[in-house]
Amino acid sequence: MATWTLAQSPETEAPPMTSPNPEHSSARTIPELRRYKADDGRPPLVMVTAYDAPTARFAVEAGVDILLVGDSVGTTLLGYDSTVPVTIDDILHHTRAVRRGAPGAHIVADLPFMTYQVSDEQAVANAGRLLKEGGADAVKLEGGLALASRVEAIARAGIPVVGHIGLTPQTAGLLGGFKVQGQEFVSARALIDDAIAVARAGAYMLVIEVVPSALAELVTDQVSIPVIGIGAGAGCDGQVLVLHDLLGIEDRHAARFVKRYGTLATDMRAGIAAFASDVRSGAYPAPEHTYKMKSSVLAELRDSLERERS
Ligand code: KIV
Repeated sequence: MATWTLAQSPETEAPPMTSPNPEHSSARTIPELRRYKADDGRPPLVMVTAYDAPTARFAVEAGVDILLVGDSVGTTLLGYDSTVPVTIDDILHHTRAVRRGAPGAHIVADLPFMTYQVSDEQAVANAGRLLKEGGADAVKLEGGLALASRVEAIARAGIPVVGHIGLTPQTAGLLGGFKVQGQEFVSARALIDDAIAVARAGAYMLVIEVVPSALAELVTDQVSIPVIGIGAGAGCDGQVLVLHDLLGIEDRHAARFVKRYGTLATDMRAGIAAFASDVRSGAYPAPEHTYKMKSSVLAELRDSLERERS
């Protein structure tokens, strides 16, 4: 079956590429990112999740620094209630799409639940797949001090690793649900130790999720690698949000830390409803959406059908 591309499609021109955001930080390589701290006058790093080619392209055109193929794909796109069922093949599939959409982007891919917890060998093998088969630049795994040896094993294998501490969705059950972490002295102190352990183990970047902003600021000061916050206040070296939350594609619920920058679910429903209504009323397709053929060819066709009938 023939498929139309934008370039081939008649009467359709490819939309102009929007120029990259002039504010866009040019930090892209691992060594540049490893020493990126936002406290010396540099703007915070901007990270968003991406799971498919077009949104990856839009994010890069909008000046985003880092794309995360998060295991949040499970809840945002795949219809699961949590990230637990997401597989390495799911992440590979989506990472390849993101790489095709954003060939030059810095892409971090999540190691899903139970693809790194079992052993160093398992963690290194799966992390390697995300780079070799998926085209990711780096992998992210959830866990602090207890997982530092995994971070070290992956980093030693030559695979760039991002840590993820605080609220770790893969093990939210153990944490008592989706709750703010580190509100008491012992748990707050443990989070600082987690950050230090993960940084020492060789992570080049750290995500910290849903902790008090004062604690995130302390964590950010304690490590030399950039700390990217989500629900962790303004004192981090960067911010990440799930694209479906920030664009309002997910419109059923939002955590306190989510700011909506779009109402895409409303726009999508309205667009689909308008299409359905136009089809039912006959307003679509209109003459301008159709292709013509020569009247001589049509007449010849009709004649041949007529001849067959008689
Ligand atoms: O999977 C994901 O989207 C994430 C972010 C919440 C940081 O890990």
